[in-house]
Amino acid sequence: MRAEQPQAVHLADYRVPAFLIDHVDLRIELFEDCALVHSRLNIRRNPADESQARDLVLNGEELGLESLMLDGRPVENHRVDEGFLTVPSVPEHFHLDVTTRIHPRDNTRLEGLYQSSGMFCTQCEAEGFRRITYFLDRPDVMACYRTRIEADREAYPVLLANGNPVDWGELEDGRHQVTWEDPYPKPSYLFAMVAGDLVEKRDEFVTGSGRTIDLRMYVEARNEAKCEHALASLKKAMAWDEEVYGREYDLDIFMVVAVDDFNMGAMENKGLNIFNSSCVLASPETATDAAYDRIESIVAHEYFHNWSGNRVTCRDWFQLSLKEGFTVFRDNQFSADMGSPTVQRIDHVNMLRTAQFAEDAGPMAHPVRPDSYIEIANFYTLTVYEKGAEVVRMIHTLLGPDMFREGSDLYFARHDGQAVTTDDFVSAMEDASSRDLTQFRRWYGQAGTPELRVTDTFDAESGTYTLTIRQSCPATPGQSHKEPFHIPVRMGLIASDGEALPLDAEQNTETVLELTGDEHSFQFSGLAERPVPSLLRGFSAPVKLDYPWTRDQLMFLMSRDPDGFNRWDAGQKLAVDVILSIQQGRDTEVDPRPVEAYRTLLTTPGLDRAMVARMLALPSTAWLIELTDEADVAAIDGARHQVEQTVARALRDELVQVRADHHPGGSYAFEPGQVAARSLSNSALTLLTRIGDEQGREQALAQFEQATNMTDRLAALKALVDSPFSQEREDALARFHADWHHDPQVVEQWFAVQSGSPWIGNVNCVTELLAHPAFDWKNPNKVRMVIGVFAGRNLTHFHSPDGSGHRFLGEQIRRLDAFNPQISAQLAQPLTRWRQYAPHLRDSMAGILRELRDLPDLSRDLYEVVTKSLGESG
Ligand code: BES
Ligand code: ZN
Repeated sequence: MRAEQPQAVHLADYRVPAFLIDHVDLRIELFEDCALVHSRLNIRRNPADESQARDLVLNGEELGLESLMLDGRPVENHRVDEGFLTVPSVPEHFHLDVTTRIHPRDNTRLEGLYQSSGMFCTQCEAEGFRRITYFLDRPDVMACYRTRIEADREAYPVLLANGNPVDWGELEDGRHQVTWEDPYPKPSYLFAMVAGDLVEKRDEFVTGSGRTIDLRMYVEARNEAKCEHALASLKKAMAWDEEVYGREYDLDIFMVVAVDDFNMGAMENKGLNIFNSSCVLASPETATDAAYDRIESIVAHEYFHNWSGNRVTCRDWFQLSLKEGFTVFRDNQFSADMGSPTVQRIDHVNMLRTAQFAEDAGPMAHPVRPDSYIEIANFYTLTVYEKGAEVVRMIHTLLGPDMFREGSDLYFARHDGQAVTTDDFVSAMEDASSRDLTQFRRWYGQAGTPELRVTDTFDAESGTYTLTIRQSCPATPGQSHKEPFHIPVRMGLIASDGEALPLDAEQNTETVLELTGDEHSFQFSGLAERPVPSLLRGFSAPVKLDYPWTRDQLMFLMSRDPDGFNRWDAGQKLAVDVILSIQQGRDTEVDPRPVEAYRTLLTTPGLDRAMVARMLALPSTAWLIELTDEADVAAIDGARHQVEQTVARALRDELVQVRADHHPGGSYAFEPGQVAARSLSNSALTLLTRIGDEQGREQALAQFEQATNMTDRLAALKALVDSPFSQEREDALARFHADWHHDPQVVEQWFAVQSGSPWIGNVNCVTELLAHPAFDWKNPNKVRMVIGVFAGRNLTHFHSPDGSGHRFLGEQIRRLDAFNPQISAQLAQPLTRWRQYAPHLRDSMAGILRELRDLPDLSRDLYEVVTKSLGESG
């Protein structure tokens, strides 16, 4: 057990800061084995503070304090304790000069200033700035920064920080300096600096008002050819934010840097976004369509933060969804506009209701605006991000696009330069639209996924159809009773001939029902027959919906629902029912209906291929587990596999046919038509290889040989690895590695194909991968691709009945926790849902959690995840 128990921070305890810092002047001297950080802070008492505190208390961690002066005089009565520097009895206004010595080379947590493949870089969100210098490291303290970086010119020719470069020059001993000034006040979490030997890729963007913005991307020389897509995405995002939100960029220069070692995906530091290499670098030969897609949306996401996060920021970390939920909503809208909105929505909802619903149903459930946390790094969750984005989407649905835009304009105008709350956001939306969102605010404060139970009656005589909807929400930790939510349900009614029925006097065929009470009835009249309801179109609210559709009705909706999302969802519901009926013995043979529906999809000309590919994909094992109490993973997997085999065998000819015009050796463009074609063709390839016969083997081998782009090459590799062709598998893995061992992003994929494989990715295999020369414990991407993919995506082997998968994960978490707690806590995620599983799995998972809990030296990050999962704190 840990010696002392980490304490929780509560939203209810929020107080304004006792002091404000208006200006920060930094001089950072970089050396091989350390850095000296000289900081001058202009500090004054906060007039809004009533505490009368005389002492200045600054945050600081792992800092060597070299000197401390107040208004030019050395301070002698200060105290340095765990995490704080206290300067007693300070005046109303003063400047404080602090020099700290830090050791970026030994910074394995990757928070604060650290080294990654020879360069220096920073990550300050949420609380990393305090690992660079003493500061009021909280987002409601906003200051203007001037940053001078000094380093050896030859080793670090490029020196970057936030804002605009204002001064540069040579120094003694082969060193040089560059000074940057950021005119916009910002919280410390948005501070960034980079020093390295990097190449610069330049581009430019002309804003709506005619200003030319310098766009610069900095990467290691070997990555020079992988910048084009990110820069193109950036320009699209800049144009889109002007058009859709009226937001222009505000500095003269916007920089993007790629680093290999990064705990997260990317970071929106003002004017200097820093990216995990895997989320920004791409070329057709090395990156898949999925990676291109992800890069486009992450580049946009970080860019969009310039307004939703930077110009208007969070008052405290409980408000994290203010910037993250809103920005995810914005990047989702952007991605929808760049490609197919329906496909984008399907992919997003698929992830949301598999992973976020699981979080909301488990021991780590928390509101979109949490009430307390032990370690804020643990709260960059799917709930804060994805459910937070859904909450903003519901406001968009309730207000309509025009009113929503007025609300966002008001929000940005009213709060520019401020640190605010989710409540301020909702108030701006209310004030602009005159809609009352009082009840709607419960989405921010109540955790758990609401459940809608829908029943209906039809009175043939009067032609009246009545829908009754009851809402409820299960208890979550600390919240046993829930008040009803305000829920928008987009819906329509469909006649047996497939016609969309008018719902009101204006002949609208689609409407948004608003639920506010526990139960509502809605009547539709003038109907000639009982309609089939199409409910929750576009997934208009993050809820679970229960209506007793028959399999035939689902077949009907799959082809006739005018809403593309609901066509897909009907197919998923049908497949879930078929698979779980096999697993639970309710069906002894696989129902032929899905096969026939898929056959129609494969043979109907003119359908969107990306959509057909999505519809052909059976619900994931993870989603099936989520829908099952006491989930027996092996049994669920077995049933899913049986259905997949049946589908593949029955549709062999059609699958071969859709692949006929696919040319993996052709020229590559990341363009919706090509992406859709590859996606369908590769789904078909995967299914064909599931049969395990000669035809599938040949198709996979041929594609592996001919492919000139990574999408097709990797799809073929995966198909070979996950099939019973052992020699071909070995050869392909060896060839792939030989071809790409010099490229870290591709090697990461090579790891993931193996650790995620239901065929070969057992504990022995992943243990061997950990010993592979390309594996690096200090590189989060490698750790994620081997250990994270095994535990998160390879459910077959992770939940091996002998408990070996769980033990393996426990050992690796323990090892990682000693040097990178953010990563160890992230990796513990798959264990948190232990109660969802069958007894033998549940016991083994809880056993691992208890062993971790009892470690003497576990980090606060891991402590919080482990104790909350076991239901012991929080
Ligand atoms: N602000 C975050 C990055 C971050 C998160 C830094 C947690 C420190 C701690 C950034 O804007 C972000 O949200 N990045 C996401 C990707 C995004 C597309 C959702 C990430 O890093 O995964
Ligand atoms: Zn973000």
